[in-house]
Amino acid sequence: MAKSRASFICQNCGAVAPRWQGRCDACGAWNSIAEESLASGIGAQAAQGAAKGRVFSLSGLDTETESLPRLTSGISEFDRVTGGGFVPGSVLLLGGEPGIGKSTLLIQVCAALARQKRRVVYISGEEAVDQVRLRAQRLDLAQSAVELAAETKVEDIIATLHEGRCPALLIIDSIQTMWTQAAEAVPGTVTQVRAAAQALIRYAKTTGATVILIGHVTKDGQIAGPRVVEHMVDAVISFEGEGGRDFRILRALKNRFGPTDEIGLFEMTGRGLSEVANPSALFLSGRDLEAPGTAVFAGIEGTRPLLVEIQALAAPSSLPTPRRATVGFEPNRLAMIIAVLEARAGLRLGQHDIYLNVAGGLKVNEPAADLAAAAALVSSLTGHSLPKGSVFFGEIGLSGQIRPVAHSLPRLKEAAKLGFSRAMIPASAQEADDSPKTSDKNPKIADKNKDVNSEPLTDIRSHICGDVASLVAAIAAPARRDARRDP
Ligand code: TYD
Ligand code: MG
Repeated sequence: MAKSRASFICQNCGAVAPRWQGRCDACGAWNSIAEESLASGIGAQAAQGAAKGRVFSLSGLDTETESLPRLTSGISEFDRVTGGGFVPGSVLLLGGEPGIGKSTLLIQVCAALARQKRRVVYISGEEAVDQVRLRAQRLDLAQSAVELAAETKVEDIIATLHEGRCPALLIIDSIQTMWTQAAEAVPGTVTQVRAAAQALIRYAKTTGATVILIGHVTKDGQIAGPRVVEHMVDAVISFEGEGGRDFRILRALKNRFGPTDEIGLFEMTGRGLSEVANPSALFLSGRDLEAPGTAVFAGIEGTRPLLVEIQALAAPSSLPTPRRATVGFEPNRLAMIIAVLEARAGLRLGQHDIYLNVAGGLKVNEPAADLAAAAALVSSLTGHSLPKGSVFFGEIGLSGQIRPVAHSLPRLKEAAKLGFSRAMIPASAQEADDSPKTSDKNPKIADKNKDVNSEPLTDIRSHICGDVASLVAAIAAPARRDARRDP
């Protein structure tokens, strides 16, 4: 007979430890290691040959599959992030800080689906039914046919749902408050959260209902509780926003049924969340064109262009090691931009504290933002404001060269739409050809840039910026450049 072996498994990350220990070496969680018997786990019986399994048929990759039917809420910023609506039987995890508006968003989604005569159930483990109802009244949704309950025991919830018509959408607010009698731990513990999520996922897969689990977020932005829940669900969506600001960003971190680079934009108003129709205008609304240190980046978020304001501050430092801090921008990219400006354009930044901020709480991940960040930085350092009505995009290479980026045309079109008249952009693909450093292996990108430079957009005057030295020269001598460009 096979010997029954025990092993010690972290209930947070699933790492296996050789013996019990207070802290998991892999994820750093305390008291998360539990003893599990391997002989009783999944697949143990097959390994022992004790029981025969059911024989099933295998199919090939070429078998026809119907395209997945989607359930759209009609809230287009929400549907965009889910990849075009909910897939029946899928499970989504929505994470976000307390008070960001998760419950508000989902009650609005529920009401939108209820309007389409779908059965929608909202289970709140945190608030009493009256509180949820009050919120709905505030949102003017009190008349919608959403079914509410305040429950925390998963078995009761599933039994109740099996009674009537299968719901199209089930909201669990929040997964951390749920518990199942199948697990012995206290509610809120990792084991309970995982077991409750497992039961709800099984419910979704067997009935075809879409389930949204709301998850709390810890201080460092991680969804609290077991990371394994993130692996178990089909999509992980985070709802973010900046304290004090009213707009909120919905972002897919993982999506088995759609892209993960789309964002949805909302504004929190006195009557719930409203969709943001013109995101670029929103992120630029507070801009002060005259101020040095501000550059407008023509970016792409997912499939849509978005203008974002990048602010930099370079101030003389009294510290032995000057401070470098960023909000919404990759710190390593800032370090690289600083190094390139020092090495290739002769700027001295070693005695300056440098701060870089992406206005509006947005996170910019594109390398195309390099040029805008560098322009803002040079502008702050020299005290010269950037030319009025300019947008910037381009990737900075270590050689100091500004490299072409994809989707130039939509970026310029968005800028023109919002009344910008100039753009500082990378040299065309042909001009960059003589340098072996150019990233233009992709013919699509090269073509796009060719288009931009050969067929000028009537409303936008493109100023081609070849390297960081010419960027610095253009910013440091605005009078000369303006005299040349505006006779
Ligand atoms: P809530 O959805 O309860 O947040 P979460 O579920 O993520 O914890 O939202 C709470 C905040 O939203 C609260 O501070 C009040 C604000 N709010 C509005 O500004 N307008 C509204 O119409 C509603 C319903 C809430
Ligand atoms: Mg809530």
